[in-house]
Amino acid sequence: MPDVTPLPAATPIRMGSNAGQPRTRADGLLKVTGRATYAADNHPAGMAQAVLVTAAIARGRVTAMNVEAARAHPGVVEVYTPANRPELALEPDAKPSFFSKLTETLQDDTVRYEGQPIALVVAETLEAATEAARLLAPQYAAETARVGFDLAPYAPESVGFGFPIEMSKGDIAAGLSEAASTTETVVETPPQYHNAMETHAIVAEWKDGKLYLDTPTQAPGMSAAGFAAWLGLDPADVVIRSPFLGGGFGSKAAVVGAFLLAIQAAKLLDRPVKLALARHQMFGHVFHRGATRQTIKLGMDAEGRLTAIDHHTTAVTAAFEEFIEGASGAARTTYAAPAIRASHDGVRNDVGVPGAMRAPGEASGSAALEIAADVAAEAAGLDPLEFRLRNYAETDPMSGLPYSSKALRECYAEGAREFGWAGRPLAPRQMTDDAGMLVGWGVGTATFPCPMFGAEARATLRADGTAVIETALIDMGQGSWTAMAQIAADSLGLDVEQVEIRGGVSDLPDSGVAGGSGYTATLGLAIDNAGGDTIRQLAEIASSDPDSPLHGTGNTRVVARGGRLYAQDDESRSESYADILARAGRETLSGEGKGARGENDANDHSFQSHGAVFAEVKVDPDLGQVRVTRLVGAFAAGRIINPRMVESQLSGGMIWGISFALHEGAEMDPRTGRILNRDFGEYHVSVNSDAPSVKVLTIPEEDAFVNPLGVKGVGEIGVTGTAGAIANAIWHATGKRVTSYPIRLEELLDL
Ligand code: MOS
Repeated sequence: MPDVTPLPAATPIRMGSNAGQPRTRADGLLKVTGRATYAADNHPAGMAQAVLVTAAIARGRVTAMNVEAARAHPGVVEVYTPANRPELALEPDAKPSFFSKLTETLQDDTVRYEGQPIALVVAETLEAATEAARLLAPQYAAETARVGFDLAPYAPESVGFGFPIEMSKGDIAAGLSEAASTTETVVETPPQYHNAMETHAIVAEWKDGKLYLDTPTQAPGMSAAGFAAWLGLDPADVVIRSPFLGGGFGSKAAVVGAFLLAIQAAKLLDRPVKLALARHQMFGHVFHRGATRQTIKLGMDAEGRLTAIDHHTTAVTAAFEEFIEGASGAARTTYAAPAIRASHDGVRNDVGVPGAMRAPGEASGSAALEIAADVAAEAAGLDPLEFRLRNYAETDPMSGLPYSSKALRECYAEGAREFGWAGRPLAPRQMTDDAGMLVGWGVGTATFPCPMFGAEARATLRADGTAVIETALIDMGQGSWTAMAQIAADSLGLDVEQVEIRGGVSDLPDSGVAGGSGYTATLGLAIDNAGGDTIRQLAEIASSDPDSPLHGTGNTRVVARGGRLYAQDDESRSESYADILARAGRETLSGEGKGARGENDANDHSFQSHGAVFAEVKVDPDLGQVRVTRLVGAFAAGRIINPRMVESQLSGGMIWGISFALHEGAEMDPRTGRILNRDFGEYHVSVNSDAPSVKVLTIPEEDAFVNPLGVKGVGEIGVTGTAGAIANAIWHATGKRVTSYPIRLEELLDL
């Protein structure tokens, strides 16, 4: 083994063309052949089946349950109620982390929302547990449930993920009073529930002093730490396996009270326990997008330039816990104005606590702000696209910081060209098709921030010159397994086939959070740094070895490419990774990397992805039925690692935008506080026939500041802008301005 001379900590150049390729999904074959295992697919020997019993009232108390009958049912192992609930290491309402808010663990007989856990039945079979759960037949003392916006508002502690409840700049009053014209638009958005295809599930097994959990999580490390905190365990003794998620959308990053019960049951009964929520139990206990009522006042000068944006959101949150939808954040990030105020208050309903749901804040906020912008454009007599260009934010509207990059102008232009926006009649109700349908076109601006939450990875070169990347990678359907492999290969100067990714388990390096649209940027950077660290060490070995053709090159003057190191200034000097390792007597060589935002970046730039969405709708003038016939979205989101996955993310987001505009919404019964549509039959989401043509354009954008990879993120931005574009197209088709989502045909019956 050569004497290794440590060289200055510089990373060699690594070259590869894996990133940028439209590779198909690395996990595609596993999924279509049914070999990708989801949490509930696991059946360890001796496993018992648990069924959760949830409250059928929104507020009050459980006065009786027929525990005797349930216990007596054949096959029942145990029934847990507040009378015999397992103790936790922390108070159930404690918050060991921001995400840890859902902690109903049978602490008492009170009911705080419909769908709250009130008992857990464990049996030998799912059928026995289901029947015993039915036999419990809970009796309640119900109190009047608090429902809707018309309750006394209160000032929350913070908004979304810790933003202040109010942010402002300039003189709002002056901006409005001195305006040539003003508009006021009030928009309501309903409660929406994530409803991933895979319902929340857990298989808990205590073995060899450790707790093994098969459960879907967007953040394995954070989830393991959360479970450990409540259970009084060392986080290293909690191992979560979560290779695949059947969708997450923000709902699968937290510790859930029902899961704690299943884990404790497994311990007390000394056997593995499985619990999978029923579809109706997805409505309440596992987060939702809280309802909002947003009031947006805009002032304009005579040319339609905004003089003031005053965006106020009243957000519905839980009676016992707080999460405020940061919808007014849209006003901070979308249009330029000398005076901007983004404010929030809350009202407390008897609902499960809201939380992050795909594009939290911006989805609801842009759905309202884009209608308000359209109303203002109409008042100014301007084409809606021209209005948006006139109010283009050259710098961050609230902070004034320069953008790290912003190709929104190109998004507007390319999207409009692809859509055929030119020649759009200014007035509504001017276009019909051959079948007599009213045709309308609308536009919306899409924005979403580019956060980075921190992640770690380890890269290991093996004697044969191939490599393995280790990190607790999860894939919830977004294609992360595929994109990370491409980044990994380039980081090591290898082909993607030569790199294995070992992920999906929380005892690997912490993969951070697949959320906030920051996964590719954050974990990708960790992987890139791990690869860089490995190649740097390899270069040190070669450079220090008199027998290597690269002796004396130093690590800054080599290039890693195709499994070989080359001297930068003399490509005839090169050596394969395998040869370098063999001569050094190394079986493996490992490097580590972290991904996080640069320390000072936040002070220097504003980081946002951008886009423009154009919608065409056709409305039946007799029936009021709305069809989205065309959607074009043009997005600029920095460097694109995998165009196929990115298009899939963006079009999927836009289809969610259709869902937001026309379909999704929990119907709260004002008398009882119960949700009337707690299933896929009645809670509508867009399906194929609702989305006939969705076209995605990605606008090239280089970003030297957002992170060293130049990746901004695409997971959520597709939802933003789209709902507003559709609402505006409906106005353009019909002349009717509907300001309450989802837009239903009963609002369009009098056309
Ligand atoms: Mo997301 S709502 O950041 O998973």
